[in-house]
Parts: sequence; structure tokens; C-alpha cells
Amino acid sequence: MAILGGGNLGHALARGWAGSGLLEPDAIHVTRRHPERLADLAAEGFAVGSDNKSATAQADVVVIAVQPGHLDAVLGDISGALDPDRQCVVSVVTGVSLARLRESVGEEIPLVRAMPNTAVETLDSMTCLSVDRPEGRAQAVGRRLFDGVGRTMIIDEEMMIPATALCACGIAFFLRTIRAAGQGGTEIGFHADDAVILAAQTARGAAELVLRGLTHPEGEIDRVTTPRGCTIAGLNELEHRGFSSAMIRGILTSSRRARELT
Ligand SMILES: NC(=O)c1ccc[n+]([C@@H]2O[C@H](COP(=O)([O-])OP(=O)(O)OC[C@H]3O[C@@H](n4cnc5c(N)ncnc54)[C@H](OP(=O)(O)O)[C@@H]3O)[C@@H](O)[C@H]2O)c1
Repeated sequence: MAILGGGNLGHALARGWAGSGLLEPDAIHVTRRHPERLADLAAEGFAVGSDNKSATAQADVVVIAVQPGHLDAVLGDISGALDPDRQCVVSVVTGVSLARLRESVGEEIPLVRAMPNTAVETLDSMTCLSVDRPEGRAQAVGRRLFDGVGRTMIIDEEMMIPATALCACGIAFFLRTIRAAGQGGTEIGFHADDAVILAAQTARGAAELVLRGLTHPEGEIDRVTTPRGCTIAGLNELEHRGFSSAMIRGILTSSRRARELT
């Protein structure tokens, strides 16, 4: 595998795929223009460098993980060097369509557009995938790669911007929620370090209840809200302060902004 663009997401992807057991670290070649900033990955056994062309030539799967403004340079390095019979291209670049990528990588190469989040590193990403040739092998390759580092959903490409807001930006919203709960926990008596762990594990439990039971969150809430009890008192106070509304508006604003940036 070649990961072209060893920044925040490139690092997380490399560690996730190695951590999942899907690939050995030395089978993952990560590039960036300043390869000295990949010393941490090199120390963990990953192959690192700055030569996109040579990393691509040796790879079966080429993952493009640069900012949109740097995409043309990367595509210039690799287009013409891709073998549709052997290779597959995965792009995690926000806001760049499959049609736009095809102009450079050609019509034949299996191509996947993916929107993961940084929880790929802990094998807990929510990754949305789109392909333009559902009959080809790209979808299966995308699923295999990203099921290994979390959960996947195949979506229409027009839903990629909403997926960016809900899943890629969304992880920050849930992290902020955990921080806020931790702050509340500190005010009621826990050390800050303990409070954040208590809040994070509680958030994980809530997510697992929804995902494993495939239940609606409100059904789970009904199970913990005793009439006149402390849960409903706190929950209603959150709602009086605009909790659900703030989250909805945050997601709408991120989605709008993501569209503006494309
Ligand atoms: N971060 C997320 O949670 C997330 C989630 C979903 C999608 N995405 C998308 O994924 C992409 C990467 O995001 P990021 O957060 O990882 O960005 P980032 O931290 O800025 O990383 C991008 C990396 O690309 C490298 N780069 C630039 N030009 C290059 C070139 N010609 N060849 C090889 N590497 C090059 C840069 O390093 P040098 O300057 O050293 O070259 C940089 O480290 C973006 O399109 C982003 O929208 C990010």
C-alpha cells in the first residue's frame, strides 16, 4: 500500500491498517514532501519517503490523503504510472469528485472515494464510501480496507458532503461533548483526569447500545429516565439550554461550509 500524504489522516490510516492486522507496517509506504516529519512512523516500522511515483509503483492500493489544494501535484506524480489490472486508487480528499479524479487516473482503474474519520487509528471509524463503477472490484476493496478500521456504509456520491459533516467533522462534536461532560464531572467532584475517562466510557456505552441493539436513542433514554428522577431533570435542563438544537445547527453549518469549500 502507498499512502500519499502522511498528515493527520495519513498517520491514522497507516496505524489503523497495521493495528487491524490487515497489513504489516513495512507493507505500508507513507509519503509527504517533508519525510523527516514521518520519523515517528519510520520508528514504528513503516516505510516512509517523499517519492510518490516510486511508492505508487510498488503498491497494489494507492491511498491519496492530501489537502485538496495539493491534489494536482500528487495526481501529476502518479497518473500514467497506474496499472488497472493490479492496482486500485482510494481518495479520502474532501470535496473532490470521482469524475474529477477519473480525469487524471483514467477510466479503467478501480477507484473509491472514502470519507473516514481519525478514529481509523483505533479501528472505530465511520467511513462512507462511494464508487462510480459498482460492478467493479473497487467497492469490495474499499469495504475490506475500511471495515478493518471500523464500520462502512456505501452511499451515493452526492451524499459525500453531508457525510463529511456528520462523520468527519462530527467526531469533533462528540469529542467536545465528552470534554464538556468531563468539565461537569470535575465541578461535581471528580479529578479532571478521572472525569474525562468516566465521560468517554459512558459515551462509548451509549454508542454501543444504539449500534448493537440497532435501537433508536430515544428508546434507550426512556429506560433511564425515571419519572421525577435525576436523569430527566438534567436532560430537560440540557434541552432548555438548546442541546439538540445546537448539535443540529452545528451539523448543518459544517455541511454548508464543506459545500462552500468544494
Ligand atoms: N483529518 C481528518 O479527520 C479527515 C477526515 C476525512 C477526510 N480528510 C481529508 O483527508 C485529506 C488529508 O487530511 P489531513 O487532515 O491528514 O491533512 P494534513 O494533516 O494537512 O495532511 C496532508 C499531508 O499531505 C502532505 N502533502 C502535501 N503535498 C504532498 C505531495 N505532493 N506529496 C505527498 N504528500 C503531500 C503534507 O505534508 P508535506 O507538507 O510534508 O508534504 C501533509 O502532511 C484532506 O483532503 C482532508 O480533507 C481528513
